[in-house]
Amino acid sequence: DLKPADLAKDAAARAAVALVEPGMKLGLGTGSTASVFVRRLAERVAAEGLELRCAATSKATADLATSLGLKIETLDELGWLDLTIDGADEVDPDLNLIKGGGGAHLREKIVATASDRMVVIADKMKVVEHLGEFHLPVEVVPFGKEATKKLIERVLDGHGLAGRPVKWRNGPEGGPFLTDEGNVILDLYLGRIADPEKLGRDLSSIAGVVEHGLFLNICQLAIIGGEDGSVVELE
Ligand code: A5P
Repeated sequence: DLKPADLAKDAAARAAVALVEPGMKLGLGTGSTASVFVRRLAERVAAEGLELRCAATSKATADLATSLGLKIETLDELGWLDLTIDGADEVDPDLNLIKGGGGAHLREKIVATASDRMVVIADKMKVVEHLGEFHLPVEVVPFGKEATKKLIERVLDGHGLAGRPVKWRNGPEGGPFLTDEGNVILDLYLGRIADPEKLGRDLSSIAGVVEHGLFLNICQLAIIGGEDGSVVELE
């Protein structure tokens, strides 16, 4: 039984599968919506014998794709991608995103920015007027992470966001969540990000910060699914 949100994700995923052309080099995103896309893509590949080359944004997606019969290669083997399809945690009217709810935003950003085109698929609930209601994930090197946290809090002070909760993410077994690159994640509960460009720059200037989950001017098209199976395209 599909829940309404699942129907919306499926509608967006199906519309995205229709963008795939024979011979493409594709980037596969991470998360529940991207997983629906991978399933629908595998169905189309099986039905049409479509020739594709794919790179994954996480171990989880690589495992899923492989289990469905899709061959996964490294981004270096593919060199550059025609199209990446991924989910998002928030999408604003300018197609700026928050990503990393699944902790994969570093590889997701590397893959998306190594693609001619990045398309986001999401259900309607992900569309927001202003980014920041969803927590902003920041991938941090474990070495000296508490000092890095202090520097991040200092940046937040400078953005009028002093005192907003920042929390180390825990993994499924209670210990720290570890990314595919072996780093930890600090989730910033900001409420509203007035200047995403500047916040992104300020966070990136901290030595221990590997990557933040703001995807600014990276996505060219968002396919938004509705619970009734309809889709709306934002570009
Ligand atoms: C993974 O790190 C994220 O960027 C996901 O793309 C994002 O969290 C969306 O996930 P869902 O499709 O599961 O909501």
